[in-house]
Amino acid sequence: MTKVLTVLGIETSCDETAAAVVRGRPPGPGDIVSNIVASQIAEHRPYGGVVPEIAARAHVEILDVIVAQALEEARIALAGVDAIAVTAGPGLIGGVAVGLSLAKGLALASGKPLIALNHLEGHALTARLTHGVAFPFLLLLVSGGHCQLLIAEGVGRFTRLGTTIDDAAGEAFDKTAKLLGLGFPGGPAVECAAARGNPRRHRFPRPLAGSEGFDFSFSGLKTAVRRAAETSGDLTAGVVADLAAGFQAAAIDVLVGRSSKAMQFFAEKYPAPHFLVVAGGVAANKALNISLANAANIAGFEMFVPSPQLCTDNAAMIAWAGLEYFSLGRTDCLDIAPRARWPLDASRRDVAGAKA
Ligand code: KG4
Ligand code: ZN
Repeated sequence: MTKVLTVLGIETSCDETAAAVVRGRPPGPGDIVSNIVASQIAEHRPYGGVVPEIAARAHVEILDVIVAQALEEARIALAGVDAIAVTAGPGLIGGVAVGLSLAKGLALASGKPLIALNHLEGHALTARLTHGVAFPFLLLLVSGGHCQLLIAEGVGRFTRLGTTIDDAAGEAFDKTAKLLGLGFPGGPAVECAAARGNPRRHRFPRPLAGSEGFDFSFSGLKTAVRRAAETSGDLTAGVVADLAAGFQAAAIDVLVGRSSKAMQFFAEKYPAPHFLVVAGGVAANKALNISLANAANIAGFEMFVPSPQLCTDNAAMIAWAGLEYFSLGRTDCLDIAPRARWPLDASRRDVAGAKA
């Protein structure tokens, strides 16, 4: 049995500056000893979305303080950790470079090994940190930049079943929020408005529903919501709530429909028990959770969703992914470069329109 490890994690790939200390051993669950997340929401709000240059500068300004705070809260010195884990991509390259540079400096100064991680794998392995979920499992990864169904066979071993051919799930929520005047960040705002609306007032399209394969599409849905908004007169709170509810119901149908099909595929391939893991920021959506739990129940799957704070970007997931790699004896050289794009599935086939 591998020994208990303590890993410092650093995350700067989008608009959260985060550092955390995690302790444990695979397959988990592990202990989150500290978990500091500084959100840049206020800096980006005036622009209605994340501005890459502002994000990178904000990371530069506070990352060292956030790392010091994570170590202090964990009551540990850098000398006491076994390794330093950091997001090396995919993401906004300026921000990723800030985190990776600091991690390299810390590794060089302390002599501790560096582990450079794929941000998506951080999301993917969070359910092992929180619940010790065993491989293989089916993974629905739904974030601001991604919407994918994958089979997780092991650390660094993912097979992609499907991806979005246009917008990511979180992107669809964010764009819908913007066009309905709900502000930034969009996902929680749409969820909140949808809770007060009638999801049956508008019947929006479910793109790719019933089609072959496991790919997703959201752009037709977004256009339909825009058209409905344009012909709905004044965007009063009630009108917006109905549009948000109609959008959310359609988006959830798309996600649940594809996931149900993937569960069927997975169940034919692997013996029980079967696990469905939902990860990424959109996994924080309660209505989605309820619908997915119902579908998982019907398919005979046990579903795992990390708590909302661990669904959205954080460094505990990066520390844990680093811990998994380190326990397998895998570390990185200090000359590793940041990557704006980095697909989780190395053997991926290209999908027209897919961003990753
Ligand atoms: O994983 P994440 O924090 O960052 C990325 O790696 O992209 O995901 C952020 C995305 C945003 O698009 C945000 O609007 C969405 O997750 N999100 C939600 C909810 N909370 C966050 N979408 C729907 N419902 C939510 N409650
Ligand atoms: Zn993320």
